[in-house]
Amino acid sequence: MKVAVLGAAGGIGQALSLLLKTQLPAGSELSLYDVAPVVPGVAVDLSHIPTDVKVEGFGKDNLADALTGCDIVLIPAGVPRKPGMDRSDLFNINAGIVRNLIDAIADTCPEACICVITNPVNTTVAIAAEALKAKGVYNKNKLFGVTTLDVIRAETFVGNLKGLNPANVHVPVIGGHSGTTILPLLSQVEGVDFTDEEVASLTTRIQNAGTEVVEAKAGGGSATLSMGQAAARFCLSLVAAMRGDNVVEYTYVETNSDDAVFFSHPVRLGKNGVEEILSYGELSAFEQNAKESMLDGLRGDIQLGVEFVNGK
Ligand SMILES: NC(=O)c1ccc[n+]([C@@H]2O[C@H](COP(=O)([O-])OP(=O)(O)OC[C@H]3O[C@@H](n4cnc5c(N)ncnc54)[C@H](O)[C@@H]3O)[C@@H](O)[C@H]2O)c1
Repeated sequence: MKVAVLGAAGGIGQALSLLLKTQLPAGSELSLYDVAPVVPGVAVDLSHIPTDVKVEGFGKDNLADALTGCDIVLIPAGVPRKPGMDRSDLFNINAGIVRNLIDAIADTCPEACICVITNPVNTTVAIAAEALKAKGVYNKNKLFGVTTLDVIRAETFVGNLKGLNPANVHVPVIGGHSGTTILPLLSQVEGVDFTDEEVASLTTRIQNAGTEVVEAKAGGGSATLSMGQAAARFCLSLVAAMRGDNVVEYTYVETNSDDAVFFSHPVRLGKNGVEEILSYGELSAFEQNAKESMLDGLRGDIQLGVEFVNGK
């Protein structure tokens, strides 16, 4: 299994690369790419950890070399939020970064599964899809927006509130990855009951959890360590699925539903990426209402990405 991390010298990139160096199956290769000159050093640093995962660093002129033969490409390249910023404020810088990286993937490893972490995810995944279509290599089963951080945050907050080990709590989160488009399905958490007030306040906390981190870091960026963990979990699930295991993760993929072109669903992963998009089941009245209120915003975010690549 060969995995590339694009943006590997950043806060997420380094945490994610560390977790992959220690957890990818023996014999895997990890390819680290960044425009920051420190990236070869990050690769040397990680290479001293004694696991059977080969690490190589690639600087800004060697993107094609970094991508050659990759099975999975993870993209955390781009700028993060500062206090007062919304994820959509990152669009101007990150849209172009994602477009260029996707073009290189299309040229070098078009068969790879692509996992987009760069915000605004609601839009950057649509940019990736349109850029791949323009190159004639789009496969909707191999493009994922990584929304796993919303799931692990929801599991932590529910576990803490109810005195449960968060590692044993499972919370579905559907929709997109910003503000009210993030929709935790608390009505589906097994063995746990919530009051209406708890549902309202937990939902808001899960939706604003990224901002909690941005404000606590006071200008020093957004979630990197928890995001590294979330992306590693998603990547390792994909690796396990590509090796034949039965794995379901919530992820932002192209769907055939009426909700939006891209929507986070429970997805059965397999050898070729998406094996099956599963139903997210019955929603409570609160969740149904929250979903209907956010759909126009999510569709608008997606349209912005389509127009970025194709023009208005
Ligand atoms: N999906 C999520 O849940 C989620 C969560 C947190 C953050 N994010 C997003 O992830 C992105 C990265 O966050 P971070 O905290 O790691 O930021 P960071 O600034 O610490 O790291 C970003 C890295 O990307 C690199 N980079 C910039 N342009 C590049 C290019 N063209 N090619 C390769 N590398 C390039 C930078 O040199 C830097 O090393 C941001 O857009 C952030 O909003 C997503």
